[in-house]
Amino acid sequence: MPLFRDPPPIEVEVPAWGDEAHKSPYTELFRIGTYLPEGYRLAMARKGSVDLTVDFAACSDGSEMDGFLAQYNRDGYQGVIEATGYDFNEGVLQAARTGVHTVVGEKIASAARYEEVLTRFGFKVEDSPEVGEVVPNGAGMENAPRKIKLLTADAAPVREGHRIRFVHHDLLEPLAVEGERDLVFANNLLYHLSDEQAARVIRNLGVTLAEHGILSLGLHVTPENQAVLKEELGLEPVFTDYSGTVPVMFGRA
Ligand SMILES: C[S@@+](CC[C@H](N)C(=O)[O-])C[C@H]1O[C@@H](n2cnc3c(N)ncnc32)[C@H](O)[C@@H]1O
Repeated sequence: MPLFRDPPPIEVEVPAWGDEAHKSPYTELFRIGTYLPEGYRLAMARKGSVDLTVDFAACSDGSEMDGFLAQYNRDGYQGVIEATGYDFNEGVLQAARTGVHTVVGEKIASAARYEEVLTRFGFKVEDSPEVGEVVPNGAGMENAPRKIKLLTADAAPVREGHRIRFVHHDLLEPLAVEGERDLVFANNLLYHLSDEQAARVIRNLGVTLAEHGILSLGLHVTPENQAVLKEELGLEPVFTDYSGTVPVMFGRA
C-alpha cells in the first residue's frame, strides 16, 4: 500500500482579488475556496491510505476534477484516485471526457504565466496564435480594447495512472452506490436548488459515503442543509473554512 509522504507545499500562484488575472478561467483549474487539497488530505488521514474513491457531483466540464488531480499529483502522493464525475448535462460531460480546457489569457503577460503554472502542474499546454483584440462593444461591458490569447490545457498527463469516468446522472435521483466513497464534492451546486431539492441531493450523496467518508459541500451550506446532514445521515462538520465559522466538510464524528 502506498505510504503517506511529507508533501511539499502547494505553490499555486493566486492573484490578488481585483487583479486582472482573476477574470480568467485559470481559477477553474486552480480554484480557491473549494478546499480540494484539504479534502484529499483529510480523506487520506481518515482512511489511512492515499488511494481514494472520489466523486464530483455536478462536475461540469471536469476542470474541478482535473485541478484536484493536478494538486494531488504535485503534492507527491503516488496513489490511485478513482474519480467519478456526475452531471445531468450531456454537453458538459462530453467536454469533460476530452480533458482539454481552454484558458483565456486576458493579456499576453498573464497567458505566459498561466502556461508556466499549468505546465508545472502537469498539464500539456498548447499555445494558440494570438487571437487579437477584444474591442469595446458599446454596451458598457468593455472599457478598452485588450489583447487576449487562448491556451489549451490538456489534462491527459494529469489523469494518467488514475481511473476517471464521467457519468450522466440527475443528482435528484439516487446513485447506484452505497457505503463506498471516501470523498464526495458537491461544490457550487446547492445554491442552484430549492431547500427540498438540496435535501434530496444531500441524502443521495450522503448514503454513498463509506464509514470514514467525507461530504464536501463548499461555502454555501444552509442551516436546513445541516439539519438533513445531522438528523438523517448522522454527519457532523469535520472541516470549516479558514475563518473557522463556515462548515464545509461533513463526516461521522
Ligand atoms: C456551477 S456548475 C458547478 C461545477 C463544479 N462543481 C464546480 O464547482 O466548478 C453547476 C453544475 O451543476 C450541474 N447540475 C445542476 N443540477 C444538477 C442535477 N440535478 N444533477 C446533475 N447535475 C446538475 C449543471 O449541469 C452544472 O454543470
